[in-house]
Order: sequence, then structure tokens, then C-alpha cells
Amino acid sequence: MTRPRVLTGDTPTGRLHLGHLVGSLENRVRLQDDHDCYFLIANVHAYTTRAERPDDIRRDTIEVVRDYLAAGIDPARSTLVLQSEIRAIPELAFLLAMLLPFARVMRNPTLKAELADKQLEQHSFGFPLYTVGQCADILAFRADLVPVGEDQVATIEMCREVARRFDRIYGGAVFPVPEVLLGRVARLAGTDGVHKMSKSLGNAILLSDSRAEIHRKLRGLYTGRQAATDRGDPDSVVLQYARAFIADPSRARELADRYARGELGDAAVKAEVADAIDAVLAPMRERRAAYDGPRGEAAIVELLRDHARRANAVADETLARVKAAMRLDLQAAPVAAERQDMLAAPGVPTSART
Ligand code: TRP
Repeated sequence: MTRPRVLTGDTPTGRLHLGHLVGSLENRVRLQDDHDCYFLIANVHAYTTRAERPDDIRRDTIEVVRDYLAAGIDPARSTLVLQSEIRAIPELAFLLAMLLPFARVMRNPTLKAELADKQLEQHSFGFPLYTVGQCADILAFRADLVPVGEDQVATIEMCREVARRFDRIYGGAVFPVPEVLLGRVARLAGTDGVHKMSKSLGNAILLSDSRAEIHRKLRGLYTGRQAATDRGDPDSVVLQYARAFIADPSRARELADRYARGELGDAAVKAEVADAIDAVLAPMRERRAAYDGPRGEAAIVELLRDHARRANAVADETLARVKAAMRLDLQAAPVAAERQDMLAAPGVPTSART
């Protein structure tokens, strides 16, 4: 009778873009119909790389929630989880860290790729720890399903391992082993035509972009053959976008064919793709308007506070079950018996009994 549970989230590093949409966001919107959904804003993780910019993180946190609500995440049906409000997560992360060999954490390809981009002396001790924290995010909510982009799969695999290991050692059937759900486009290229779409590379079309911005970005899209070769994909980016965003697949195919035969030029294809993207984003613009400005921000803060209560109820229960299984629970029978003996011993003043 209970609906399967979903947990996924985003680190607030900036506004969300089309890569997030096709990678995970549109799955989340759909899953709300028949799943118990938790969408987490990983604001604590943002401090792994930007500890000296708390105001930026605060601003980006609100922006991510705006993007969620605009994209169709429905706060009446789903729970928004502000990571920093969930007291069970760091405690669970600490406990799970004991079940993961150090070398196993450092071997995680997601982490390795991110570390390769940084100077070793520059990244914080907390940075590799975030992957264990991510396992705690998922397991605190006992999620069955984790809709994410391809880049997160390795971390979810680590989460599956730690869930199994926990059960093997402590029993208690506390955690389901969560499944990954990938989006319909594994890797959406950015407007530079080469790299994966990413806010930090400046090649992203944002969910909050205006119609004019979408058209401007499409006009500047690099469609050269070299770009396609670099990506190991024979199609130009504009055709990837056509397949991903033109609602009618036969129209997208026709466009690709005519483009290949040289009957349609770059400019015409780009304009049609820009219109298709705008059609996807237009309803988001409308929903976003309800959360604009300081009043919108106040409404978001209220929503986060309210949802944190629901989220904490679930995560607190998980932690209680974890601690009971690990014999960290003073209520567990053998410990309680010992404690009674101790308290019954002569010479213990009643006031010392707690
Ligand atoms: N690491 C993810 C990202 O940067 C965000 C994240 C944090 C997450 N906790 C999670 C994703 C739990 C899925 C499940 O995008």
C-alpha cells in the first residue's frame, strides 16, 4: 500500500539548466504521481568547495528551490529537504563512514573526476566526505529509487554497497538497496558544442532563461564538425537538442534529414530548436513568477521550514532503527538489564539515576 520512496537532490552551485531537466528533473516531476518523493537541496555539500561564500550558497539554495517549483515539483505532493535542517544526516554519515574502506571512497570515479579538476592542497578534508554524506542523504530516507544523471551513478553504487554491508553486519532490514533511474538523455552537450552542459563552463541554457536569451544562445551554438568528433558523437549539438526538445519526433527526424541534405541551413534549424526549447520553458516561467522577489523568497523559506518537519520525522526514525541495530541504543534489552544492575547497586544515590 505504501508508495515506493524516491530521494534525489542537487548541490546549490547556481541555477539549474536543460541538462538537469533531461537528466533527472523531468523524471522527478513524473514520479510524483505514484511515489513518495523527497527532493534534497544539498546546501551543506556546497560548503565543501565554497566555505568562504555563505551568502552565495544561501542565494543559490533559494534559486534551486525556485527552479524546482518552476519545473513542476509540487510541494503539496513532494517533500523538499533542506539538507542542513536534517539532524540525522550528519550522524548517519559518521556511522556509515566506518563501513566504507578509505580506499573505496577515494576510488569512486565521480569523486576522482572531481578531484582531478582541483589542486590536492586546495580541496578540503570535507570534500571526499561528501560522497559518504550523499549515501546518508539517500539512506536516511530509506529511498527505493534515486533519479540522477549519469555522473552520479558511481556514488549511488557506493550507497548500495554500504546498505548491503550494514544489513550483513547489523541486520535489522533498515535500508532498501536503492535503484538508479537515469534520464532520457545521458549527456546533454553545452552550447560550446563540446563539453557537457554545465553552469560553471558558461555553456548552459538555464531553466530561467528568457525567450530572447534562448534564441541568442542558440544563434551562438557551435555546430562545427570538429566539435561533434570531439564528443565522439556524429551528430551536431543542434540535432541532439532537436531530438531532445522538439515534441513531435517525426518533425525532429525530418529536420535532421533536411539539414543533412543541405536543404536547411544552420540558422533555420537553430531558430526552430530555440522555439521548441522556449515551448518547454514557457510554462516554467509562469510558475516561477509566483515565487519571484522577496515575497517569493519568504514563501520558499516558510515551505522549507514546514517540509523540514516532515523530513525530520522520517530521518529520525531511520536513525533510531540504525542505532538500535548497531547496539548504540540504550533501550536495547541487554544494555538495559546491565544498566538496571548498576543503578540497583548500593551506594548509588537516587538523584544519580537518570
Ligand atoms: N551530489 C549531487 C550533485 O552534486 C547532489 C546530491 C546530494 C544528491 N545528495 C544527493 C543526489 C542524494 C542524489 C541523491 O548533483
